[in-house]
Amino acid sequence: MASCSSSFEAPSSILIIGSGVFGLSTAYELCKNDIFKNTSITLVDRQPFPAPDSSSIDTSRIVRADYASAPYSRLAAAAQNLWRTTFAPQHYHENGLCITASGPEQKYVSESLANVQSLATCKIEVLKNSEDIKRVTGIEKAFEDACGSLGYVNWSSGWVDAEGAMRWLRSEVEKFNRVCFITGTVTRLIIDHTTQTVSGVRLKDSTPLVADLTILAAGAWTPSLLDMRGIAKATGQILVYLPVTPTEQANLQHRPTLLNLSTGLFLLPPHNNLLKTARHGHGYTNPTTIPHPESASPSATLTVSLPSYHTVADSPVPPEGLHAARTFLASVHPSLATPSRPFAWSRVCWYLDTRSGDFIIDHHPDYKGLFVATGGNGHAFKFLPVLGDMVVKCLTGKIPEDFCGLWEWPRERVAEEEWKGDGSRGGPVGMVLGEEMVRAVSRL
Ligand SMILES: Cc1cc2nc3c(=O)[nH]c(=O)nc-3n(C[C@H](O)[C@H](O)[C@H](O)COP(=O)(O)OP(=O)(O)OC[C@H]3O[C@@H](n4cnc5c(N)ncnc54)[C@H](O)[C@@H]3O)c2cc1C
Ligand SMILES: *[C@@H]1O[C@H](CO)[C@@H](O)[C@H](O)[C@H]1NC(C)=O
Ligand SMILES: *[C@@H]1O[C@H](CO)[C@@H](O)[C@H](O)[C@H]1NC(C)=O
Ligand SMILES: *[C@@H]1O[C@H](CO)[C@@H](O)[C@H](O)[C@H]1NC(C)=O
Repeated sequence: MASCSSSFEAPSSILIIGSGVFGLSTAYELCKNDIFKNTSITLVDRQPFPAPDSSSIDTSRIVRADYASAPYSRLAAAAQNLWRTTFAPQHYHENGLCITASGPEQKYVSESLANVQSLATCKIEVLKNSEDIKRVTGIEKAFEDACGSLGYVNWSSGWVDAEGAMRWLRSEVEKFNRVCFITGTVTRLIIDHTTQTVSGVRLKDSTPLVADLTILAAGAWTPSLLDMRGIAKATGQILVYLPVTPTEQANLQHRPTLLNLSTGLFLLPPHNNLLKTARHGHGYTNPTTIPHPESASPSATLTVSLPSYHTVADSPVPPEGLHAARTFLASVHPSLATPSRPFAWSRVCWYLDTRSGDFIIDHHPDYKGLFVATGGNGHAFKFLPVLGDMVVKCLTGKIPEDFCGLWEWPRERVAEEEWKGDGSRGGPVGMVLGEEMVRAVSRL
């Protein structure tokens, strides 16, 4: 049995790879925590902050505590209290979240509902039919085939301007004057195979960055630096942005976010005259053959799913995704989905999915000097106010009881076909990005 508590001595230097929610919140917590008073802290990212193609930078992220798992519900509620009060509250909006489903995904909805109700609050409204959903969300059209569909709105949920909140956190970290920020692409961990120790990283221009402890928080790119086969994989999710008029925005901006778990598609309230539609689905994989990140042999390779691009500009959404987003919009707001209204832009945004949906926040079992903080699974953003604290607790051997075991490095690798998933994904299964890019929508 892994122990949930162990002794810890602060390293003299820590290098964090990645300035997303995992990496930046960890830097913040290290600055605040006296144990690390004498530790030098470096944060490296391949992009200048804020990295526009990272998963932590976007117009919006949903903040909700309605999880099918009680520990995450409690943690999200704690994070939400901070969003409301001291943690970038100017970027947080409490509009409510309406979750609906028809078919098998109803199970997730009912389980979440049970948890949310066990938290014993009263701002929940159960939606029994499509007319209820229409009234609450302000959609133009009731779902025609929603017979038997179930949903609820939790008026205590909200959304946050993700980029705004990340910029706020970055400036808070800068105030400590402790963190050395470096822009550079890490190409490899420096691994000594005789001692099984990681002593830092090598950048693209061959510069080494040496540290006693390396924290790998590279999000969906993590599998390019560590063999994550059978543990975690990158999946691409769609985002599209539709320009709306100020009047259209005024009509919808105080309405709840609408999430249809059956398709994974959701619609955020418009902000800055942009309406965002996205899909929380099984996503696209992008199998890529790369040099084996842990092998000493230069000819060893492995094939893993990785983000497909290096800039937002070259990450267009495949026709299938644009079609799905437009069909969803047309089913709820026909006037916004007419062909004469093109999307302003679209993007594929990458999750790092683990097989259960749980994060991985743990010391690497094989390498001394390496800690991993990743596996956002499309749901980590809301935890930003508490995530760094969780990472540092796990790092120092004080794993919160709720999460004991849940976030540990998996003891065995499991073939992807056998992954259970987190139960919250809807929509198409098994799509490969390269195939979808060249597939015409008419084949759907
Ligand atoms: C479309 C979409 C919708 C989402 N919606 C929600 C939501 O509604 N609510 C919610 O709570 N969560 C949501 N999430 C999830 C949440 O945004 C992610 O879980 C979280 O942002 C992941 O953060 P991260 O730090 O792991 O990754 P990232 O933010 O991607 O950070 C990783 C960083 O590492 C850097 N990096 C990568 N490789 C290297 C390298 N080799 N060298 C140097 N730097 C490197 C990258 O540039 C990047 O900045 C959503 C995610 C997506 C994609
Ligand atoms: C930091 O260094 C100072 C001076 O060497 C020492 O007195 C102090 O105990 C150290 N603090 C920690 C937390 O290690
Ligand atoms: C959600 O999507 C499913 C599948 O397309 C659809 O049948 C249903 O009407 C939608 N709405 C609700 C409320 O479930
Ligand atoms: C809805 O969510 C909030 C936080 O997101 C949670 O604390 C609360 O218990 C839920 N509300 C209801 C009414 O169940």
